[in-house]
Amino acid sequence: MTRDEPLVLGIETSCDETGVGIVRGHTLLADAVASSVEQHARFGGVVPEVASRAHLEAMVPTIQRACDTAGVTLRDVDAIAVTHGPGLAGALLVGVASAKALALSLGKPIYGVNHLAAHVAVDQLEHGPLPEPSLALLVSGGHSSLLKVTDITGHDGGVDPLGATIDDAAGEAFDKVARLLGLPFPGGPHIDRAAREGNQVAIDFPRGLTSRRDLERHRFDFSFSGLKTAVARWVEARERSGEPAPVADVAASFQEAVCDVLVRKALDAAASEGIEHLMIGGGVAANSRLRVLAEERASKLGIRVRVPRPGLCTDNGAMVAALGATMVERGRTPSPLDLPADSSLPVTEVLAG
Ligand code: KG4
Ligand code: ZN
Repeated sequence: MTRDEPLVLGIETSCDETGVGIVRGHTLLADAVASSVEQHARFGGVVPEVASRAHLEAMVPTIQRACDTAGVTLRDVDAIAVTHGPGLAGALLVGVASAKALALSLGKPIYGVNHLAAHVAVDQLEHGPLPEPSLALLVSGGHSSLLKVTDITGHDGGVDPLGATIDDAAGEAFDKVARLLGLPFPGGPHIDRAAREGNQVAIDFPRGLTSRRDLERHRFDFSFSGLKTAVARWVEARERSGEPAPVADVAASFQEAVCDVLVRKALDAAASEGIEHLMIGGGVAANSRLRVLAEERASKLGIRVRVPRPGLCTDNGAMVAALGATMVERGRTPSPLDLPADSSLPVTEVLAG
């Protein structure tokens, strides 16, 4: 780390985590996160209005905590980066408004960045500059995509979607299956934990969009809604027979079905594009089985896998700061101060212009 690398503060509020991260270049200095997840747990999903209010309350203390941890003051910051989409509209607005206030009062540039690209960029804080091209498997609560990344700042079509889910996102499938197994929200980490005690080949759940016919039209797309229904049917049938569902076996077999398809399609895409680096990002990238399976299969093909540590996979401000720092390094033009929050921002639009 050198002093002339840009000091960037990143703000993330697209869902239920208020994240403020501070980086210098590719070095992480602070990653403060305040989560409202407990306020949503009893509803079984994130309640947008509750999330927005929680962001408002958490914003100033979280900024303060990040600055204290990094040992910097706001005046030291060279640029502000903020998630301006996609995500919950009201939640995004809190982050965007806060970032604008900081940028205006400090007289510093603002970069409105894409949440999904930030999930990819965050790996630079752990493993150094992202090789370009890389194939990114982006799996979160709201998205599942395969992206060809030739420029993570999005310049000149730098983030190119090769495929995406046609129904539920991978994380959404984890959350729904957890719910039907009586596990708390968000379900991903609970399924991951329960699966460790289970047998992944106990139940042969379907692998969506992998039949020869489906592959013709949807080679790099995903589908998880059929899998979710298959799990629900299996659990119902077991309970009707008077026996409780074996939670660990169902969790392990379901998780295997998801990870198998994600890894299979990601490696197929990498091989077909001649790309030697696979990056996995987003909340589901925290999954222990996904990490092991990707590494196992990729190493046989000579493909290198990069996955950030679990704490950087789920939503945080450091990922936004990391992408912001790359924008500064590459001399990208900052966003205008009237940049909007865009709840349905496409993955190809990495920087608000
Ligand atoms: O990226 P993220 O924090 O928020 C979104 O942008 O959506 O992803 C949240 C998703 C949730 O669906 C959660 O259940 C899932 O990531 N998740 C996991 C694990 N940790 C979080 N899924 C599977 N295994 C995990 N260990
Ligand atoms: Zn996310």
